[in-house]
Amino acid sequence: MTTVDMRYTGSALDRVEGLEKVTGRARYAFENFPADLVYAVPVQAAIARGEIRAVDVDAVLEHPGVIAAIWYGNAPRLVPSDNADLAVFQSRRVAYRGQYIAVVVAETYEEAKEAARLLRVEYAAEDHDVRLRADHPNMYRPEKVNPNYPTDTEHGDPDTALTVAPVLVDATYSTPAEHNNPMEPHATVAEWDGDALTLYDSTQGASGVRDTVAPLFGVPPANVRVISPHVGGGFGSKGGPSPYVIIAALAARHVGRPVKLAVTRQQMFAVTGYRTPTIQRVRLGANADGRLTAIVHDAFEQSSTITEFAEQTTTPTRIMYAAPHRRTTHRLVRLDVPTPSWMRAPGECPGMFALESAMDELAIACQIDPVELRIRNEPDADPESGLPFSSRNLVACLREGARRFGWADRDPAPGVRRRDRLLIGTGVAASTYPVYRRPSQATAQAHRDGRFTVRIAAADIGTGARTVLTQIAADTLRTSPDQVLVEIGDSALPAASLAGGSMGTASWGTAVVRACEALVEGLDRRDGDLPAAGMESSADTTEEIGAQRRLSRHAFGAQFAEVGVDTDTGETRVLRLLGVFAAGRIINPKTARSQFIGGMTMGLSMALFEESIMDLEFGDYLNRDLAQYHVAACADVRDIEALWVEEDDPHLNPMGTKGIGEIGIVGTAAAVANAVHHATGVRIRDLPIRLDKLMR
Ligand code: MOS
Repeated sequence: MTTVDMRYTGSALDRVEGLEKVTGRARYAFENFPADLVYAVPVQAAIARGEIRAVDVDAVLEHPGVIAAIWYGNAPRLVPSDNADLAVFQSRRVAYRGQYIAVVVAETYEEAKEAARLLRVEYAAEDHDVRLRADHPNMYRPEKVNPNYPTDTEHGDPDTALTVAPVLVDATYSTPAEHNNPMEPHATVAEWDGDALTLYDSTQGASGVRDTVAPLFGVPPANVRVISPHVGGGFGSKGGPSPYVIIAALAARHVGRPVKLAVTRQQMFAVTGYRTPTIQRVRLGANADGRLTAIVHDAFEQSSTITEFAEQTTTPTRIMYAAPHRRTTHRLVRLDVPTPSWMRAPGECPGMFALESAMDELAIACQIDPVELRIRNEPDADPESGLPFSSRNLVACLREGARRFGWADRDPAPGVRRRDRLLIGTGVAASTYPVYRRPSQATAQAHRDGRFTVRIAAADIGTGARTVLTQIAADTLRTSPDQVLVEIGDSALPAASLAGGSMGTASWGTAVVRACEALVEGLDRRDGDLPAAGMESSADTTEEIGAQRRLSRHAFGAQFAEVGVDTDTGETRVLRLLGVFAAGRIINPKTARSQFIGGMTMGLSMALFEESIMDLEFGDYLNRDLAQYHVAACADVRDIEALWVEEDDPHLNPMGTKGIGEIGIVGTAAAVANAVHHATGVRIRDLPIRLDKLMR
C-alpha cells in the first residue's frame, strides 16, 4: 500500500552529498590511510588451466620494501564455503588465466608492484577450452537460473504452433562478453585488531560483504565491519566481495598490518566479473495480422569451471507478450574462463536484445508498424504465471514515446533516407525489469533540537540513494529534508540488502518508512521534552515483505532511436535516443533522469562498442583497458532524453516505487540495431554493431 504522501518525494532535490563529492571531500575506499599501512599487489595466473608447481617466494623477499609473498604454499587456510571463487590461495589449481594466484605485500605500492612482476611462478599447464558455442558437447541444463528462476518453461505445444504459423521468424542473435567499467575501480583497505576486521571497501552492499567475509576467516559477522560511504559506480561488479577483498584481509592478517589493495583497470577484466556472452535463438510464430501464436527463446551461455553463474537471459520473454504456445530455455557450458557476474540488468539486457530484434523482424515480415505490433500482443495478465500485473503501462510508454519522438509518419522502407553521406533510420524496442524487494532494517532517531537521524546500511553507488532516502524519511517524519541526516554505507548500521537488482529504494525505503512511522507514533504519544538521547525507533521488514501478495510486478519502457550510418565508412552514430518508462512513482526526477539516461547510454555503448574479445590461444580476454575496450564517451551521445509516465501502483511498497537502476539499459541495443536496419537494410544480429559488419 502506498502510504508516503508526496511533499519532498517527487521533488528534484539536489544530491545531499553533492558538495562533498565535487569538492573532493567525499572519501572513497582507496583514500583511507590507517597507521602502518602497507600495500598489496596480486599476481595473476599466466596459464588458463593447470597447476602451480612452485612459487619462488625467497627471491622477491630480497627486494627493497617487500614484507611478504603469499600463495597456496604458505597462505593461511580459509574456512571452506560454497563460493569457490573466494577460496583464494587454497589450491594449486588454476581455473582461468588472470586468476589471482599470489600476492606481494610491501611498504609502498611501487615496491609491491615491482616485486609482483618479478615473482617467479612455475606452472604445469594443461589444454584449455574457452570458446563458447551453442553446440558445445558439454552444454548442460543448470538446475535454476539467477537469482532463482526455473531454467526452462513450456506452455502449450510450441513446436507444432511454429510449424503451422503463417508467419515465422527464426533467427539467432549473439551478444559478446562485456566488462563493467565503473569510474572507481575496486579497492579495499583491510585492518585487523585481534579477531576483529575492518574493511574500507568499494561495495554495493556492506552487510553482504560482512556476512560473506566473516565465515571465511572463522569469525562471527559482528567482528567484521565494512565501511563504504561513497562508491564510484558498480553496475553489479561490486555486488558481493570479489577475491581481492579476501586477499586483502588474508594478507593483513598474515603481515599483522593494515593492507591496501587496489584492483587495476587491467586486472578488472579478469577478476571482478563480466556479462556472460550469449547465443540466443528466437522463434516467433504469428498470424498475418501480427498476433503471436508461439514464442520460443533458447539461450546458450558460459560460466567458469569453479562457479556456476547461470544468467536468466530468457526470463523477460516469459512476461513480455501474449502467445498461447511458448517455451524458454537456458543452457550453460563450464569453460576455462573467469566467472561471469552481474552487469546492469543481467539477463534482461542481452535477452531483450534478442527478443526485441526478433519483434522488429516480425513487424517487417507482417508489414505492421513495430509499435503497433507490440500493442497488438499486449497480454491481459502475466502470460506464463497467469498472475495479474500489479501495474503494466508498456502501451502507454510506446504511445507517449511515439508521439514525442515523431514516429507517426515513419516510412517503414529500409535503406531509403539519405542525408549527405548518412543513411538515416529509426527503431523502437520495449524495455522491462522485474520489481524486487528484500528485507532490511532501519532506525530513526529524533533529537531534542528537532532534527532526525536515520540509519541503514544501504549503499549509494552514485544513484542518489542517500538523497531519496532523505526525501522519504522527511515526508514520513513530516519534516523537511534539511532536518534529516541519513547515515548509510557502514555495516555497523542496521542490516540492509544490497544496491542491486534495482531494489535499493524499494527495500531500504520500506524499512526507513516503517522506522519513521514508528518514531512519529512514539513522538505523538509522548508529553514533554525528549530526553537528552532523544527517541529512537527501529524497523525490520522481513515479515512485511514475506507476507506480500503474489502478483506479477515489473517496470516497463519504450526506447526509440534514430541513427545515421556513414555510407563510406560504415560508422554508426546514434543521433537521438528517447526512453519513456513506467516505473511506479518517481521519488526524485533529477536522480531518476540520471539513472535512466545513464542506463540508455550504457545501452548505446553495448550496441556500438562494448566487446571483450576472447584470445583463444592464451585463453583470456585480450582487451583490458579503456583504449581497447570502448565505452561510449560524451561525444557519442548526441541527443538523449528520458521521460516517464506516472504510475500509481498500490501493490509495491509504501512509496509506490518500482526501481530504475537497470531498466534504462534494457532494449536500447535492440532499438539501435532496429534503427540501423531501417537505415541500411542490414540486420545486425551479433553485437556490437561494428562498421566491418555493416560494410560486408
Ligand atoms: Mo545490478 S547488475 O543488479 O548491481
